Amino acid sequence: MSKVFVFDHPLIQHKLTYIRDKKTGTKEFRELVDEVAGLMAFEITRDLPTQDVTVETPVGLANSKTIAGKKLGLVPILRAGLGMVDGILRMIPAAKVGHVGLYRDPKTLQPVEYYVKLPTDVEEREFIVIDPMLATGGSAVEAINSLKKRGARTIKLMCLVAAPEGVEIVKEAHPDVDIYLAAMDEKLNDHGYIVPGLGDAGDRLFGTK
Ligand code: PRP
Ligand code: URA
Repeated sequence: MSKVFVFDHPLIQHKLTYIRDKKTGTKEFRELVDEVAGLMAFEITRDLPTQDVTVETPVGLANSKTIAGKKLGLVPILRAGLGMVDGILRMIPAAKVGHVGLYRDPKTLQPVEYYVKLPTDVEEREFIVIDPMLATGGSAVEAINSLKKRGARTIKLMCLVAAPEGVEIVKEAHPDVDIYLAAMDEKLNDHGYIVPGLGDAGDRLFGTK
């Protein structure tokens, strides 16, 4: 069964407060999402395997460590997932970036796929699917389906804010995928928006309406 982690780190929670605030403008919103994504990357990579190495310092030999094992792939769900990519890449610069383009049909709330481009060595990578919002869960389920269909075997899902309904849908559809969040909110409203959430993440990131 999927595990769900909610990062309660004070820096993440502090910045999330300003991301939620409707008075926060586009520039600051974008900067904060970028910063929180970086902090979440720090937490999500806690279990990366390391290997022992020896390095020569100006003073002597140090027994030290480097990251070993699986190569990482980030997959932002377009568009809003793009706002989290750079913050994560600053922490994990060697990660490759794939893209899955989905939009939610405003009437049916069903995800519609319009673009997929992944790194070539899909089977060997550990993927982190990223999207600020996990609302009905339809987009996340569809993006993960898309990756699995192309051979991905190890996938984590990272979102800023989730509704409990969406988390349950992802857990049911993909019990092998662990979910990493900055906050689990109360519920969805009748339009499929997370309450209290932060509004439309894509519009707030890119200044559209
Ligand atoms: C938003 C958000 C997620 C999706 C979540 O994208 O970024 O991808 O909705 O909703 P769900 O869990 O109910 O599927 P949107 O469809 O608004 O597209 P955008 O990122 O291009 O604005
Ligand atoms: N997409 C968003 O951007 N916000 C929500 O609250 C739900 C879906």
